[in-house]
This record gives sequence, structure tokens and C-alpha cells, in this order.
Amino acid sequence: MEMDEKRATINILGIETSCDETAAAVVTDGKVVKSSIIASQTKLHEKYGGVVPEIASRAHIEKIYPVIKEAMEQAETGKDDIDAIAVANQPGLTIALIVGVTAAKTLSFAWKKPLIAINHLHAHLQSAMLTDEVFELPAVALIVSGGHTSLYDYHSPLEPKLLGSTIDDAAGEAFDKVATILKLPYPGGPSIENAAKHGNPKAIDFPRSMLGRDSLDFSFSGIKTAVLYYCRGQDMKGEDKVDSMSQQEIADIAASFQAAVIDVLVKKTQRAAKKIDAKTVLLGGGVAANSQLRTALQQMCETAVPPKKLLVAPKQYCTDNAVMVASLAYHKYKAKLFADLTLEPKAHSE
Ligand code: KG4
Ligand code: ZN
Repeated sequence: MEMDEKRATINILGIETSCDETAAAVVTDGKVVKSSIIASQTKLHEKYGGVVPEIASRAHIEKIYPVIKEAMEQAETGKDDIDAIAVANQPGLTIALIVGVTAAKTLSFAWKKPLIAINHLHAHLQSAMLTDEVFELPAVALIVSGGHTSLYDYHSPLEPKLLGSTIDDAAGEAFDKVATILKLPYPGGPSIENAAKHGNPKAIDFPRSMLGRDSLDFSFSGIKTAVLYYCRGQDMKGEDKVDSMSQQEIADIAASFQAAVIDVLVKKTQRAAKKIDAKTVLLGGGVAANSQLRTALQQMCETAVPPKKLLVAPKQYCTDNAVMVASLAYHKYKAKLFADLTLEPKAHSE
């Protein structure tokens, strides 16, 4: 009887340390969020205008234990209530990932609980399904983050198939770099979105790189360079004009840049949806927090023939978190896909 009651719900402790957020969460049955703790390192990296791996790793070491402890306390769970420990072990900064992986392996060994290895990008994809909505498969998933821009053919939680990805900068990276060029505060994504609210998206015709008729890959380094040349002259031979620009000019550049990036993201997602005859579009990753991107994708889905359903990750689960890790781990738990204590961090997605 006790056994059956215990089996009725599966509680998973998720751990995430792939970049600059130390996060832990307890999620029941892949959907019910019992706790979600995130220690952000934004302040530590701000003055460098980007994530410094060594600083990130040290901060993870400091925070990992208190963050896990808080997640367990907030969820009011003891180790006996936890059915498995899940950790994002790829892709990401190896010296950051290793902190979460080591913590997860230690807990798995000490608490005698199964260990589950999670792909961080697949977890971002899973976060789009944290809403309760019912949807049809197949789905096309667009994952747009600081490190990745990827399209997936999604038929089941355990086997997303990569359709295309960026050949240079990621979408979030482009937002961050353009924010630096425009001298807007770090992190760049939200700053660009804010500045763009007052700008004209048609003011400047920045390039939209489509990489050929059928390509599902992305390239964002060209548009970043175009913004750079716009502000500092061709081949950066001129003066940096940003300091003498009005707020309106900055807003126009931000809005035009944002519109161009969104245009490409939406068109490529549309292309992928057509290719696999998708019924649903899933959107996740840090850049999915962008309201203009959400609206544009919604519009694309509504006007498609036949229309498609759009599922977007809730805003608090767009950027890095451990809920998405524990949520995806539930499917791996049910399929008994466990890792062992030889688990290692990997910089790139397998
Ligand atoms: O998923 P995430 O937290 O970390 C990675 O796995 O990379 O994504 C962070 C990225 C950053 O590049 C950040 O600038 C971008 O997401 N971002 C945004 C917005 N909020 C965060 N980009 C555009 N608009 C936003 N509102
Ligand atoms: Zn991420």
C-alpha cells in the first residue's frame, strides 16, 4: 500500500549550472512545480559585458549547496520523497556544468537515488510544455538562447530531432552584442526589447540572412556587423557615433535590429513547420521572453494554412532554470533512462 502511494507521484530534484544561473527545483510528475530556486550571476558578469567562465564556475561552487537546500525546503521535501536526481550535463561551459554534475552525482550516491542526465536544450524545449495545454504532434520547436538557436522536429519528449541551428552567433548572443555596441545595459536582450519599444522597426533595413531557399540553419553575425558598421562607419573606420546619437536614434536601431532577427526566426520556423507538416509550434529559451517574437510567431501560426497552435514557455521558465530539467527528467525516469556515476559534462550537444 505504502509502495503504491509512493509510486502515485514522482518527485524529481533538478539541477542546472550550464551557464550563469545556479538553479535547483523540485517538480512532481513533470508538471507540478514544488519549488524553483535560481541564483543569477548577472551582477558578477555585468562589467565584462558577457559571461566569464572562471567566474561562473566559482559562483556555482559557492551557490550550489544553498540553492539545492532552499529548493528542498521550499518544496517541503526530504530526501526520502525524492525519486531521482536530474542534472543538465550538456551543452554549456564545461567548468560550470561540472559543478552541477558533481553535486548531482554526490546526491545520487549518498541518497541512493537514480541519476538522470539532461540535455539543456531539450530541457528548454520541454519548458514550452509546462503549460497544461493539450496539443497535437508533430511539433516544430524553436529554441533561442544566449548560446544556441535551434529548430527541432519534435515527435516525443525523448527524441527531438535537430533540423537546423546557427552557423555562427546565437540569436541571444546577437542581442547581447548589439546591446554592447549601443551601450545599453547588460544583459542585452531585455535592454534591446525595452529600447525598441520607442523605436521604428522600419527605420533601418538591416540584412536578413536566410542562407538559401531550403536552409533551416541560422546566421546572425552579419546583422551584428551591419549594426557595428552603422554605428562606427564601414569597416569601423569612422568615429563611434553612439555617444552623440539621440535616444530616438538608438531606439530606431534597436527596433530595426530586433525586427530583422525576429523576421528570420519566424520565417525559418515557418519553413520548418511546412517541411514536417507540424500541427504545433513550441518556443523556448531566453530569447523566447521577447514579447515581439511571441507576437510575431503567434501571428504566423494563426495565418498558416492550416493554422498551428503555438505553445510558449512561461516567461519565468524561458531563461535558465531547473524546473525544465526536472520536468524533462520525468519522461526519462518513466523510460528508465538513467545515467551512472561516470557521467561527465560536455560542452557540446550530443
Ligand atoms: O536561455 P538563456 O537564459 O541562457 C542560455 O542558455 O544561453 O538565454 C539567455 C539569453 C541572453 O542572450 C539574453 O540576452 C536573452 O536570452 N534574452 C532576451 C530577452 N530576455 C533574455 N533576448 C531578447 N529579448 C528578451 N526579452
Ligand atoms: Zn539556456
